[in-house]
Amino acid sequence: MKKILHIVCSPRAEGSYSTRFSSRIVERLMASHPEAEVLVRDLASVPLPQVDSDYAYTLAGARPDVAAPGSLARSDHLIAELEQADAVVIGTPMHNYTVPSSLKAWIDHVLRIGRTFVPTPEGKQGLLPDRPVYVAVASGGLYLGEHARQPDFLTPYLKAALGTVGLRTLHFFALQGMVRGEEAVAAEWRGAMALLERQLPLRAIALAD
Ligand SMILES: Cc1cc2nc3c(=O)[nH]c(=O)nc-3n(C[C@H](O)[C@H](O)[C@H](O)COP(=O)(O)O)c2cc1C
Repeated sequence: MKKILHIVCSPRAEGSYSTRFSSRIVERLMASHPEAEVLVRDLASVPLPQVDSDYAYTLAGARPDVAAPGSLARSDHLIAELEQADAVVIGTPMHNYTVPSSLKAWIDHVLRIGRTFVPTPEGKQGLLPDRPVYVAVASGGLYLGEHARQPDFLTPYLKAALGTVGLRTLHFFALQGMVRGEEAVAAEWRGAMALLERQLPLRAIALAD
């Protein structure tokens, strides 16, 4: 069965633009794959602990005879969720020019040396098969275009982090300037929805086989 992993991390619950827009993305995927199962991982409501010393233990060489403890077990679980997903949908705010720390904690659990990537002389090589990843980013100000007055460490960071494990087919949807008043917000939402319609028209959306 097709599976969609929906990751959200805004602390603003129902008020969150990134959560709402990423839900629109999931709806579109579901329109073509009504049988798909959606797993929601809400990193704001149920934050992940930071990786701990059990995790460092893997770096020293995991012992297959010992059950994985602490954050290593959590890492196994989160990696399994990612491996089983045919498509990944992420809704994230921009927090201080990059992803919120809640999403960073998830990344710390799934980018695992020897498990989801290996170092090679040419650089880190991902061990997971590629599949589509859709990312809705909400920001209060602008970080793209000629009026941007702040750096964007979010987009390149997510590309590098997810690319490390082998996820290279990323589709970004920006919702910028979401604190600039009702009209500006409505216009931005319409623009992002139009892009979504072009990228994921309600017909013929293929998930990974
Ligand atoms: C801790 C924090 C840091 C933020 N940092 C930025 C930032 O660096 N750039 C920006 O444009 N907006 C920033 N914002 C504004 C949010 O990105 C904006 O409110 C966005 O709509 C939040 O996404 P959401 O609607 O999905 O919750 C920040 C908000 C918070 C709470």
